[in-house]
Amino acid sequence: MKLFEQDHIQSLAGKSEQLAGKISQGDAIIGVVGLGYVGMPIALEFAKKGFQVIGIDVSTAKVDALTKGENFIEDLDDQEVAGVVAAGKLTASTDYASLEPADVIFVAVPTPFNAHKDPDISYILAAGEGISTSMSSGKLVILKSTTFPGTTEDHLIPMLEKSGLKAGTDFYVAFSPERVDPGNKVWHTANTPIVVGGINEESGILAAWTNNQIIEKVYMVDNPKVAEMEKLLENIFRSVNIALVNEMALLCERMGGINCWEVIEAASTKPFGYMKFTPGPGVGGHCIPIDPYYLSWLARKYDFETRFITLAANVNEGMPYHVANLAIREISKQPISLPDSKVLILGASFKKNVKDLRHSPSEAIIHRLIESGITNISYSDPWAPEYVVAGKTYYSVELTPESLAEYNCVILVTDHDDFDLQYIVDHSKCLIDTRNKTGNLERGQEKVILLGNIDSRPKLVMEH
Ligand SMILES: NC(=O)c1ccc[n+]([C@@H]2O[C@H](COP(=O)([O-])OP(=O)(O)OC[C@H]3O[C@@H](n4cnc5c(N)ncnc54)[C@H](O)[C@@H]3O)[C@@H](O)[C@H]2O)c1
Repeated sequence: MKLFEQDHIQSLAGKSEQLAGKISQGDAIIGVVGLGYVGMPIALEFAKKGFQVIGIDVSTAKVDALTKGENFIEDLDDQEVAGVVAAGKLTASTDYASLEPADVIFVAVPTPFNAHKDPDISYILAAGEGISTSMSSGKLVILKSTTFPGTTEDHLIPMLEKSGLKAGTDFYVAFSPERVDPGNKVWHTANTPIVVGGINEESGILAAWTNNQIIEKVYMVDNPKVAEMEKLLENIFRSVNIALVNEMALLCERMGGINCWEVIEAASTKPFGYMKFTPGPGVGGHCIPIDPYYLSWLARKYDFETRFITLAANVNEGMPYHVANLAIREISKQPISLPDSKVLILGASFKKNVKDLRHSPSEAIIHRLIESGITNISYSDPWAPEYVVAGKTYYSVELTPESLAEYNCVILVTDHDDFDLQYIVDHSKCLIDTRNKTGNLERGQEKVILLGNIDSRPKLVMEH
């Protein structure tokens, strides 16, 4: 691996030198396929730098909104989006033919799993096929979507080569994983280093030089597979460490008398060899719940079982069920049957201060409550006015003293800053705190059940 330096472009010649020159001059036209959480920040950053940007998305709603200068990604500045659209620097279309003038094309389409948790790269294939229809000599394609090693070379390139042109000689290809962290106020596109892996040296240098226009530090690795694998490692690292503290929380609850959060706080005082992760109601979003399965699926093809990685995913997936069970346990202490009880979920999005609902732990919690006979479920989320679970549309409810008093249990799933927890606890019968956000409340601690610190349960101690 090496840090990209501008001197690297001196080694380019012919078509690749021409493209590098266009990038240097700000004349390269940038295409972005997939205008979502990943694609939109890329499109905006290049447009702000003065590049002409063409966005492609299958969603007519997104294309229409962007064409009107409307922003639909919460982290992006509405004025900035409107500004680059009004200046004609950013255009959007559903038609891949619009990509014809693009010199560099980023692909940032979804990579979900299917019902069996096997990778679904159909969006990448569709994007590759779409790009092939307007492919011409000298272009560079950079795949951003998180995926398993081999996707760029074995799956995307055959689609691009439907153009009749040859990857590596006629056009350039690289994989460069995305590190955007929606809601993060410190680390943003420009100051977050990025990795690129080209299919050949020119591809790697061109992809690094393109990224370097909007990102301060770009590292080049040997090939796309290394870059694809390192992205999975980043996300699986989080999954495994979250699973570890989740297991610790479950153990502290089982033992009683040990507050898991204080254990973690204490361990975090060690200045080396420890990194802080916190337990919670489960993992969510488009990355952490999915990416481990991309790797375990691939590993099985090589007769290799990723036991550790799969175990971590299993532990994390069990957390929403555990949280729902905590709610059921609290309700069962009240003089009401489960079918007559009412539960309120605070936060539908998968993490604080964002509106992304994908794979949110709230979904599994609601499923488990319904399975247990609790159908009177509401949610409140200042970021998400509507939430569809199991085919039913829920609407975010207002939190009034009267409405809060009606719930037999309130579950804090997502700790949005907008939630006034003192107010909520004051008016609620009980609150399950899965985020350790109630420790500093002045009143009502007796109503709080803290994940990872439950004292009241009779303890089972194994006799030997
Ligand atoms: N969201 C994150 O924080 C994040 C971070 C790092 C990596 N990633 C990865 O980046 C990729 C994109 O994620 P996202 O969160 O931006 O997804 P997203 O759903 O927000 O955006 C993807 C966009 O692609 C569009 N699309 C789907 N098929 C298309 C096609 N054939 N042609 C053109 N457009 C198409 C969708 O309409 C959507 O607007 C995924 O692989 C994800 O794992 C996401």
